[in-house]
Amino acid sequence: MNIPEDVMKRAKKNIEPFDTEGFVLGKGPVPADIIMVGEAPGENEVYDGEPFTGRAGKELDKQLSYLGWTRDDVYITSVVRSRPYKWEKRPNAAEKRKANRKPNKKEVRAHAELLDVQIAQADPKVILLLGGVAYQRLVDEKGKISEVIGEKLETPILTYDRENDAFVSSEKEYIVIPLYHPAAVFYNPGIRDSIYESLDRLKSYL
Ligand code: URA
Repeated sequence: MNIPEDVMKRAKKNIEPFDTEGFVLGKGPVPADIIMVGEAPGENEVYDGEPFTGRAGKELDKQLSYLGWTRDDVYITSVVRSRPYKWEKRPNAAEKRKANRKPNKKEVRAHAELLDVQIAQADPKVILLLGGVAYQRLVDEKGKISEVIGEKLETPILTYDRENDAFVSSEKEYIVIPLYHPAAVFYNPGIRDSIYESLDRLKSYL
């Protein structure tokens, strides 16, 4: 993918005020029939310089293989390209360490232009949203992904209007399918069946 230099510079500068580290670009074929949009990289991804190389990535690979796909079939990116962290002290630990956290709205905005460029260049037929951060960024700023998991939406997407510092609906409509974030099962193992049901629905559409 060929991200214009000024877009890269703005993305890196915009994220500077926040507690984030690293900068991980997306990976996969361009153009791509399918783009997957996650949340933000974690510690492993920043270290490896690639999306989804940690524990969530292993889960994502299982889901891809259930769908009969590999990483070469999809372009994978995320809403925020730097790792948002907070300092945390574990009960018996001597030192504080950095823990992953969800990106906040300002961080999402900081990298909004970059995601728009990536989607435009990937020119996907289908956008898969991995988790609520991606759903709120691209479809409904205040919406609940739990109400639409596994549905096939035909919808404009939200794109960032830099001049007015606002999100606006695209003219073009996309097929957008909201899915669970691959890490969701770690926090809530009971959803495994619903995850695979949503993947079955996805298979039935494509
Ligand atoms: N979670 C994401 O959303 N993206 C990654 O690259 C890793 C974990």
